[in-house]
Amino acid sequence: MTEQAKKTVFSGVQPSGAMHLGGYLGAFRNWVALQDDDAYDVIYCVVDLHAMTVPYDPAEFHRLRLETAKVLLAIGIDPDRSLLYMQSQVPQHAELAWILGTLTPTGVLNRMTQHKDKLEKGVPANLGLYSYPVLMAADILLYGADLVPVGEDQKQHLEMARDLAERFNNRFAEVFPVPEPLIPKTAARVMSLVDPTSKMSSSDANPKNRINLDDSPDVIRKKVKSAVTDSDPTVRYDTAEKPGISNLLEIMSSTTGRSIDDLAAEYATGGYGRFKEAVAEAIIAELAPIRASLQNLDDAEVARILQKGALDARTRAERHQQKVRDAVGLGRF
Ligand code: AMP
Ligand code: TRP
Repeated sequence: MTEQAKKTVFSGVQPSGAMHLGGYLGAFRNWVALQDDDAYDVIYCVVDLHAMTVPYDPAEFHRLRLETAKVLLAIGIDPDRSLLYMQSQVPQHAELAWILGTLTPTGVLNRMTQHKDKLEKGVPANLGLYSYPVLMAADILLYGADLVPVGEDQKQHLEMARDLAERFNNRFAEVFPVPEPLIPKTAARVMSLVDPTSKMSSSDANPKNRINLDDSPDVIRKKVKSAVTDSDPTVRYDTAEKPGISNLLEIMSSTTGRSIDDLAAEYATGGYGRFKEAVAEAIIAELAPIRASLQNLDDAEVARILQKGALDARTRAERHQQKVRDAVGLGRF
């Protein structure tokens, strides 16, 4: 397929902590599938500027940025087939965010739930946190992306990116395709193992809430065994009455490719112990190759890949950004 006929895919991940099973099943696994499909031209970005909107330690942050890129390589992102780079190394992201910010009504930002959740958790209010969705829209629109593989928690942000693309096109010129989210059917929202009513997250203080992609088989078995469930020992899918068991069913369905109905039928009786063991083994099998590749990747090689990625991304971003500048009246003299 020619480059032009391909659909452009863009997605980003924050280097804000250990990468976990939620992000993997909800989003990153899809990143690899899209890269492997010849119909797509794929761009993946470690969005470090976004991660600066919450308090962080600079030295730890520097390490996490590289670590995040390393995990993406370990899950199968191939720099020969995907454009992989660090957001802060492509200044056009911030420039486009400024331009889109001038088109963003503050009332729209006030309705965004993610920054409200963060404020409730005690994150200090700052302008970056407030305008986070504008920078995310800029990431996507900068390359004229058509498709954005993300977990369900990003739906509202995607709506905003679509809205900004339309506003821009109506006000200035048809520069941006209106991007579509791509959300998996199972495990679009993997829940915490400790509190199955909130999502599995790297920012949760309790490390038992999540399975990290580099957790050893023993650690995975322990975490799944202690996952919070309920006292009725029947395995069945019911997110209201049995959120813990339903979450484990989603995870097992997503890692084995078997349907939830099929799994619920097989494990309905026999108790939670047997079911949890099977869930743990399914996760271990899914993560084993990732863990092995992580151990083989060396930092200098990852740094070299990011350097090359940043050069290519800058060239591409600049080409598109010139159209934006021309449309808004910031063209060259
Ligand atoms: P984050 O790790 O928060 O930067 O998220 C990276 C990607 O993983 C985004 O596309 C999220 O939508 C997705 N994601 C994060 N946490 C989860 C979860 N618990 N369940 C499903 N998808 C998730
Ligand atoms: N907000 C996303 C998250 O927390 C990360 C992100 C930033 C992103 N820019 C993006 C995802 C662009 C997709 C496309 O997961």
